[in-house]
Amino acid sequence: MKKNPFYLKEIPVDAPFCDREKELADLISYARSNSNVVLFSPRRYGKTSLTKRVQNTLKSDGTLTAYCDIFGVTSVEEIAGRIAKSIYAVTQKNEGLFQKAINFITSFRPVLSPSPEGGVSVSVQTAFKTDGLKILEDTMESLERFIDDVAVSVHVAFDEFQEIAEVDNSIGIEGVLRQYIQKIQCSFFFIGSRRRILLNIFNDRKRPFFQSALNYELKPLPHKDLILFITSQFKRAGKHISEENASKICQSVSNHPYYMQKFCFFLFEEVDKEVTQNDIVETNAVVIESERVVFESILQGLTTKQIVMLSALAKEPTAKVYSASYMAQHHLGSTGGIQQSLDTLSKQDLIEKNYKTGVWFVVDPIFKNWLIEMSL
Ligand SMILES: Nc1ncnc2c1ncn2[C@@H]1O[C@H](COP(=O)(O)OP(=O)(O)O)[C@@H](O)[C@H]1O
Ligand SMILES: [Mg+2]
Repeated sequence: MKKNPFYLKEIPVDAPFCDREKELADLISYARSNSNVVLFSPRRYGKTSLTKRVQNTLKSDGTLTAYCDIFGVTSVEEIAGRIAKSIYAVTQKNEGLFQKAINFITSFRPVLSPSPEGGVSVSVQTAFKTDGLKILEDTMESLERFIDDVAVSVHVAFDEFQEIAEVDNSIGIEGVLRQYIQKIQCSFFFIGSRRRILLNIFNDRKRPFFQSALNYELKPLPHKDLILFITSQFKRAGKHISEENASKICQSVSNHPYYMQKFCFFLFEEVDKEVTQNDIVETNAVVIESERVVFESILQGLTTKQIVMLSALAKEPTAKVYSASYMAQHHLGSTGGIQQSLDTLSKQDLIEKNYKTGVWFVVDPIFKNWLIEMSL
């Protein structure tokens, strides 16, 4: 029996990947020209996996690629620590470079320990007591000197970068980072799923990062390529799915990369040899059910008015939220209330307005399907 070719967990960097050829080429070329890029999309569209592939290619031609995850940081010290850690992690296997990193980065010492998956994992310890922005300044300055000294090209990816905006004195932090990023000779990627917060960092003229990077949006996968990807993955692993059924999956998950993997993972487990239409219907229910707890907790954080607005947009995406018929049909109440709901829901990235068509829609396709099911 062949292994399930789909992934519930993070996709390995050498696993089959659907499309993204242009994106890969664009991003590699930006990195090679030392450009800074803001890479954004809703959650689980493939930003992290794409970035790892970009870095993998860069690494193979000698670039030093640091990957710094900012997710969940709570203080400026922690941000500085994560930056130091990403440099230690990438140099750790090369004794010369690792020694250089230790010499330059005086604010944090590396701590190596055996990792549960085998190999070595790197963490950091503060080397001396400094507080606030000073430790970030020290770390960024040592990064600058390190990069000057190593004389190889360097690429740094900050994942979930918008999280810096949630930390105390975020403008101070942005100021320090921007000051060094401007001077350091390398390419930086700023990646994030919370689009409103992330883009505000770069597109607000009052903030330090204003217009300091190219905006690059990652879209869902192209429908045709995704169908081909699904059918060929089934075939590779000794099972069969028709194009028609693969297309149904793509429609159900709105060409969303992660949900496609999840759907197909469950489906592959379920079928013996040939996928039937009934398998698709059953798996669809399993996928929705697997997210139910998360969706319920999202609703718990919303007011009744906001939930009504959300359900309306799930059932009927529209450019005319304020039209009398739409308001009446979905019991939306006053225009002031609608305005407030749209504002709160879009700040949380739950809904979005298509900037070309003006149509408001629910961002997460499975959340949308669940909302429709709930309100029947
Ligand atoms: N191009 C792709 N082809 C196949 N699967 C993909 C692709 N892009 C993303 N995925 C799937 O989606 C998952 C989530 O992607 P990830 O890179 O973590 O998204 P993000 O960083 O945007 O939240 C991956 O682990 C992988 O299973
Ligand atoms: Mg990610």
